[in-house]
Amino acid sequence: MDVSKRIVIHGAGSVGCYIGGWLAAAGLPVAYLGRSGVQSEIAANGMLLTDQEGRQHRFGPDEVDYQTDPQLLSEATLILVTVKSEGTPNAIAEIQRHAREDVPVVSLQNGVRNVAALRAGLGDARVVAGMVPFNVAHTKAGHWHRGTSGELHVEYGPLLDPYVPWFEKAGLPVVRMADVVGTQWGKLLLNLNNPINALSGLPLRVQLGESGYRQCLALCIEEALQCITEAGIALPADIGLVPPAELITLLRLPDEDYGRQVGQRHKIDEQARSSMWEDLEQGRPTEIEYLSGEIVALAATLGREAPFNAKARALIRAAERGGRRDWTGPELLQQFKDAAGTGADADC
Ligand SMILES: NC(=O)c1ccc[n+]([C@@H]2O[C@H](COP(=O)([O-])OP(=O)(O)OC[C@H]3O[C@@H](n4cnc5c(N)ncnc54)[C@H](OP(=O)(O)O)[C@@H]3O)[C@@H](O)[C@H]2O)c1
Repeated sequence: MDVSKRIVIHGAGSVGCYIGGWLAAAGLPVAYLGRSGVQSEIAANGMLLTDQEGRQHRFGPDEVDYQTDPQLLSEATLILVTVKSEGTPNAIAEIQRHAREDVPVVSLQNGVRNVAALRAGLGDARVVAGMVPFNVAHTKAGHWHRGTSGELHVEYGPLLDPYVPWFEKAGLPVVRMADVVGTQWGKLLLNLNNPINALSGLPLRVQLGESGYRQCLALCIEEALQCITEAGIALPADIGLVPPAELITLLRLPDEDYGRQVGQRHKIDEQARSSMWEDLEQGRPTEIEYLSGEIVALAATLGREAPFNAKARALIRAAERGGRRDWTGPELLQQFKDAAGTGADADC
């Protein structure tokens, strides 16, 4: 396969600019398909990529090929899909309309539905599942910062083989995954912190350092894990750093013990925040339906409720309408405890 043509990042926001940017820095020809707001930022500021280990790369405005017309897809030899879940149907329609039929399409999105949707729309053979374990924040105009650790996961298969060395060269080593479904659900468990982080209004490191928020997260993960197990979905042995059940125990430790046991192993820098916080900050719809909402939907298929995840969803929906997003840990925990007694989607 000829990797000397064009990698098109479809939906170039935080993840797309960060991953695309490092691939370009490694020497691959990358073009970005995104929105005019980001295009103007880059035209004015260039593109700056930084990470929690002090790595950085700066592109001048003229070095970034950022376009807004989906016709760009016709030039792609590889497409990396980095739109939010809600944007997947549109992305599929654009790929169908503009891209060559043999071009591999890699989903680097969260959630458990995007890969299946891409496969249904574009065919099984060309769609590759990916998973981005780390956090990328859009900290300033033209600046994207990675704030946590973790390695990219990409499904086994020959389509991506020619590109894997380039990812390594770009400082984005790739783990090949055999169990796509389990990995996606495992990542979803970790993403259940996104609404809690967004509702706290705090950087991730501060939020995860406070017991009240961690207990909310433990309730959401425990509930999700029960549903996932009952549904017969097998998870990988470890999600993040530890097995899911061990994670719940760790989250329930007092602050000092948690800091000692987890803080050392899982580095989160000061700037990291969930993308859901960023969505609320920008007045954009969130991915809540594809994260906590997915657990509520799974519970419904099992004939049960998921009151903690339903509460997280209800509070985020309220925040999307302008409601509170500065809950303290104890306040939020009380909301979750009340939800268990009063029913899932109570108005917030
Ligand atoms: N940020 C993170 O730390 C992180 C980490 C791991 C995984 N993820 C996952 O990665 C995915 C992307 O997240 P993100 O944070 O990068 O989102 P993002 O910053 O919102 O970037 C997506 C960009 O794509 C644009 N877009 C949507 N549809 C498009 C289309 N058809 N053509 C061109 N541009 C389009 C969006 O514009 P509009 O807003 O106008 O739609 C937005 O600017 C999500 O599934 C997320 O859960 C994120």
